[in-house]
Amino acid sequence: MCGIVGACAQRDVAPLLLEGLRRLEYRGYDSAGIALIDPDGEFKRTRVAGRVADLVGALGPAVPMGNVGVAHTRWATHGEPSHENAHPHMANEQLALVHNGIIENYEALRDELISAGYQFASETDTEVAAALIQSRLSESDDLLGAVEQVLPRLEGAYAFAVISKHDPQRLVVCRKGSPLVVGVGIGENFVASDVTALLPVTNQFIFLEEGDIADVHRDEIIIYDSNGSVVRRPVKESQLRPEAVERGGYRHFMHKEIHEQPAAISDTLEGRYSSGRVLESAFGPGAGELLDKAKRLQIVACGTSYHAGLIARYWSEQYAGLPCDVEVASEFRYRAHAVDEGTLLLVISQSGETADVLAALREARNMGYVGVLAICNVPESSLIREADLAMLTRAGPEIGVASTKAFTTQLTALLLIVAAFARRQGREESELELVSAAQQLPGAVERVLETEDCVAKLAEHFVDRQHALFLGRGAHYAVALEGSLKLKEISYIHAEAYPAGELKHGPLALVDENMPVVAVAPQDDLIDKLRSNLQEVRARGGELYVFADDSTSLKSSGGFNVVSVPASVEAISPIIHTIPLQLLAYHVAVLRGTDVDKPRNLAKSVTVE
Ligand code: G6P
Repeated sequence: MCGIVGACAQRDVAPLLLEGLRRLEYRGYDSAGIALIDPDGEFKRTRVAGRVADLVGALGPAVPMGNVGVAHTRWATHGEPSHENAHPHMANEQLALVHNGIIENYEALRDELISAGYQFASETDTEVAAALIQSRLSESDDLLGAVEQVLPRLEGAYAFAVISKHDPQRLVVCRKGSPLVVGVGIGENFVASDVTALLPVTNQFIFLEEGDIADVHRDEIIIYDSNGSVVRRPVKESQLRPEAVERGGYRHFMHKEIHEQPAAISDTLEGRYSSGRVLESAFGPGAGELLDKAKRLQIVACGTSYHAGLIARYWSEQYAGLPCDVEVASEFRYRAHAVDEGTLLLVISQSGETADVLAALREARNMGYVGVLAICNVPESSLIREADLAMLTRAGPEIGVASTKAFTTQLTALLLIVAAFARRQGREESELELVSAAQQLPGAVERVLETEDCVAKLAEHFVDRQHALFLGRGAHYAVALEGSLKLKEISYIHAEAYPAGELKHGPLALVDENMPVVAVAPQDDLIDKLRSNLQEVRARGGELYVFADDSTSLKSSGGFNVVSVPASVEAISPIIHTIPLQLLAYHVAVLRGTDVDKPRNLAKSVTVE
């Protein structure tokens, strides 16, 4: 939540800060702002209650000059998305600060500052940090020292970047609980919430650790750890190309990312199995020992990643005979647990920075789990650093807020994990079956993408609807949940998913000619039961949209619209059936004219509780 970018250079930094913000907009887009120290040593600040494009518009052709600056794109937490609440925040016109995170004790600090005579210009928690640092700067011009003195007073999560008029060749940044990277240039250095923001200017990065403070100058970066000792952090070269976060020929990132799935899945599978068996090296050093201890799985995740966990539960129990529970992280972290001996915690997160997921992992450390295995798409994330073992998905950067390729690559990784457990449980046949199924994935996903024209036509039926019901059974109930989440996230149609057998226990009361019912219908043992559930809908005048394997005998007839899905082997069917539902949500949203990649009120990476 919120994107930060900053620079200290010899050139004018405004254009690269604005490009950085554009690339960070997936983190929030309620307001945007930039502050620079101009050649006369004065601050030039521009903020808008709007998007980065609005900020560029507000700046006009005469973009201000300045070699040192910070910029921000916001996902509002404290205070509405207004001009006053937009970052950078300034204190007495002396310093400018951008923040990602939440300062939990801001009310007490705010009262204290007001008593001392400080006048707040915003409702944000962030301005408290700016004011406190400024109060220290009034005693000395040392920006680094001022930040160091203030941080122990702040509770919560933060990544800050601060610049000061009195110490104008310096950018001081710190992180605790929110991500921040330093981009290393030649005679210029940068900071940002993630590497993608800085790819146009560097591919060399230092990933700050929890509690680090970095003193960033044009030609020097000094890093202090949480004890205040100078530390050396490795400089890593990013393999990402700047174009990886461009839309290419696509109208929306989401559309591009849906079509990248065959390649992303293929990359995720590469080098992870041999002769039909999963390679343990895929999980990192010491994997065998930890996996041997696991007799049960507890999966924890949020949003779409949680849905991946729900599907994995079916796989785990069906193919590996390994008991598996799944819970959303925001609930898991706040309840008492009775942990069975030998339970492995499996955390799933695209970003690896979701606050509830990280907190759940930390809480779980003292609960008696045998260890933590992470599935994550970002190698440098906090989650990867904190987990004992990890399987990285290789989806590449996912920019659209609605997750697509991250989800299907998570499922690919989960399939391999379940296969590895199947062998441990003495089910070698299951391991061979799952690995063989995984190998078929890229081709099968290519084929199901060919349903797009048909799905796009069907989308026209949803444009004027207010509600939609999604049905599925077994693992495909979780697919229905994910399909309904996609539709509500980007088209703003209220959508709910039910296990089809639950229809008669409540939701059937909602069914009439205004309630489209979407059903996921694979050719499996439950197809006849599902068929009966669909009849119950038709009998009440409900319009059905059925995504059915082409091996079922379901055919379109009045009120019964069938999209034929190329049949796949059972294990990968939940992945294959997900794709047409992604396409449905996408095309409905396009027809409704919503902002597909940046749906209202949402953000891609939720680094606040
Ligand atoms: C946000 C995003 C979702 C995502 C969820 C969990 O809500 O909008 O797309 O599924 O966070 O994110 P994670 O990075 O932990 O998978």
